[in-house]
Amino acid sequence: MNYNDVLINAKKNIGNHCKVCKNCNGIACRGEIPGPGGKGTGSGFTRSFEYLSKIKVNMDTINEKSKIDTSYEIFGHVFKLPLFAAPIGGVELHYSNKYNDLTYSQALIKGCKEGGILPFTGDGVDENVFTGTLEAIKNSGGFGVPTIKPWSVDEVIRKIKIAEKVTNFAIAMDIDAAGLFFLAEMGKPVSPMSVEDIKKIANSTKLPFILKGIMTVKGALKAKEAGVDGIIVSNHGGRVLDHTPAPYEVLKDIVDAVGDDMYVFVDGAIRSGLDIFKAIALGADAVLIARPFATSVYGGDKEGVRLYIEKLEDEFKSALVMTGTNSVKEITKDKLFNNGEIN
Ligand SMILES: Cc1cc2nc3c(=O)[nH]c(=O)nc-3n(C[C@H](O)[C@H](O)[C@H](O)COP(=O)(O)O)c2cc1C
Repeated sequence: MNYNDVLINAKKNIGNHCKVCKNCNGIACRGEIPGPGGKGTGSGFTRSFEYLSKIKVNMDTINEKSKIDTSYEIFGHVFKLPLFAAPIGGVELHYSNKYNDLTYSQALIKGCKEGGILPFTGDGVDENVFTGTLEAIKNSGGFGVPTIKPWSVDEVIRKIKIAEKVTNFAIAMDIDAAGLFFLAEMGKPVSPMSVEDIKKIANSTKLPFILKGIMTVKGALKAKEAGVDGIIVSNHGGRVLDHTPAPYEVLKDIVDAVGDDMYVFVDGAIRSGLDIFKAIALGADAVLIARPFATSVYGGDKEGVRLYIEKLEDEFKSALVMTGTNSVKEITKDKLFNNGEIN
């Protein structure tokens, strides 16, 4: 099997909402929720893809030959790339019932482990989403970051206590899921939280606590006040609010404000190794990718995931070679044309 076969298989298995487009850019699935689309006009998804594609990379090929190192160290572990698989919950609802949250997470986690990167896993109204993903993390020896939705504070802490028993890395919460109003219609509401609420949640665990879905400097400073260990600059793939900026438009100011105090990750329409390079050059410590991992699981199970990671690794390596960059630490904004500014 090669990655092309994975895409062909995915078309057969993934259901009607996702069209497995050549460019996974949010155009064909605009507004498709349930499904993988962005909310409303889908602009929060399409804008991220467009923004990244406008950033140009500076070539620099007169260099001493040296060994290229793509590795990234975090939480006391070394990974092959500065990349995580992003959480996706409710796969039966959004894709097809070829997988449920347990079997999906199992394939994703195994593929990520073989590929040398760490996955985040999702959460949903149905308790089986969370228990399914945790079982998959447990079966892998603790390899994954459970990502809990902003239910009530007590409910989040209850889930953290269960998650702590299986993961060796970190716990996350997607605070921006407060915009998923359909969860209330399904019987379990989510809501925004105060700094005090988040402080209580972050203090309830000894594991690193990561907050996903920060899109302003103000939000990042509140996350800092709450004492989190990291944030993910993300508009949830455009699924929680229409007409948000691309995360890359707000990343630099957020990194300037809190980058010395915590990890700053980013996601949104990152599709290739070159996109990973661009996002890190813009200031992120590491990146997350979501939708293409769903395509990879539906098209090739754990092997599909491994093949996608290998493709990203090849592309990322060639970005480093062609820009005269030897390691992730050396990826700075001057590697981008105009320092990554888009006019
Ligand atoms: C079908 C679907 C389900 C998702 N479920 C979750 C989830 O349970 N928790 C979460 O934090 N993010 C969830 N996300 C958001 C992704 O983790 C990610 O932030 C977003 O899709 C942007 O990345 P991408 O453009 O690479 O897909 C989901 C996204 C999709 C498309």
